[in-house]
Amino acid sequence: MPAIASRVAALGTTIFTEINELALKHQAINLGQGRPDFDGPADVIAAEIAALQDGKHNQYPPGLGTLTMRQAIAAHAGRFYNLDVDPASGVLVTAGATEGVFSSILGLIDEGDEVILIEPYFDSYVPNLDWVKAKPVYVPLHPPTWTLDPAELRAAFSPRTKAILLNTPQNPTGRVFTYDEMKMIADLCIEFDALCISDEVYEHLVFGDARHIPMAAMPGMFERTVTVSSLGKTYSVTGWKIGWVYGHPTLVNGVARAHQYVTFAAHHPAQTAAAYALSLAGTYYEEFLEMYTTKRDLMMSALAGAGMKANAPQGTYFVMADFSDVFEGDDLAFARYLTSEIGVACIPPGLFYSPEHAHIGRKYARFAFCKGDDTLKAAGERLAKLKR
Ligand SMILES: Cc1ncc(COP(=O)(O)O)c(C=O)c1O
Repeated sequence: MPAIASRVAALGTTIFTEINELALKHQAINLGQGRPDFDGPADVIAAEIAALQDGKHNQYPPGLGTLTMRQAIAAHAGRFYNLDVDPASGVLVTAGATEGVFSSILGLIDEGDEVILIEPYFDSYVPNLDWVKAKPVYVPLHPPTWTLDPAELRAAFSPRTKAILLNTPQNPTGRVFTYDEMKMIADLCIEFDALCISDEVYEHLVFGDARHIPMAAMPGMFERTVTVSSLGKTYSVTGWKIGWVYGHPTLVNGVARAHQYVTFAAHHPAQTAAAYALSLAGTYYEEFLEMYTTKRDLMMSALAGAGMKANAPQGTYFVMADFSDVFEGDDLAFARYLTSEIGVACIPPGLFYSPEHAHIGRKYARFAFCKGDDTLKAAGERLAKLKR
């Protein structure tokens, strides 16, 4: 039989598959994948059902996305970040943020270009960069506060840097980069004439005093940033796979040229529901955050009760916990042990690192708290066995 392509031959199934299978086998509470176990808002789901049934949304939409959806995305960026986004030429609707990032890479990055990645990073970034033969340049965040070293960041930039692929609020560390950190990154992008592909899918999941600052809102950055976001996170409908990219029309045009031959268009009925969701009143976002603040607190007390150390995440629904006081062994051994013996599944963060920096994540486990409160409490009871 002819061989599969060399660009995928080395890619195994991800650790997510192994942990999910192990969790099923041992009936573990699965805090591995960032997959809410509750439904999205009933009115948003009703809007999707209505769009499926009204006979107007079941054929191809415009490749860029419906005008209503693009207007809703631009209005959302204006309402929350005071950004002036052109719905006609500065917005593209994609099949989730995953496609948004991939089409951005295809549309903006050339073979041999260097792209800076902050570690730990979202797992699709590196294969996507490999496929366009770009060179990732890694800059690790330093635990336990997950901060950037300014000298390491500067050293990563060079005349060959085409872009930084940023994620804030950051999965898996829960960091929300501060104004000063964003300014440091922005200044380097300007100095080295680099772009920023800014993955901001957790833009509405920011706790306490932390504030989400979009890279596109930083001085001098709008014309060198494409912002990627996703319906799935903010409205708890990850299965819909609706995302978007917005920015300067010249950059978005590059992304759209790639998108037309990747998916051509995203699911049509969901765009109607998404436009409705994006225009929900401020109370939706307040209640959403309140719900997640409770979940974060439940998660933090579960980790403390287990004898693990963790900084409360400033954003996202993930937390990185240091298990070294209760387990001897690396992250993979811990994740397998926790899933099969304690009955709680987590993700070993090794897959979010380059081999050269994988040691940084060796004593950490990533837990996702996008789960029902009762599930988180039950997980806490099981995790307490670790300390005993
Ligand atoms: C940082 C980050 N980017 C992108 C995605 C993918 O988003 P989507 O499901 O919209 O493709 C995720 C999902 O977990 C994520 O955590």
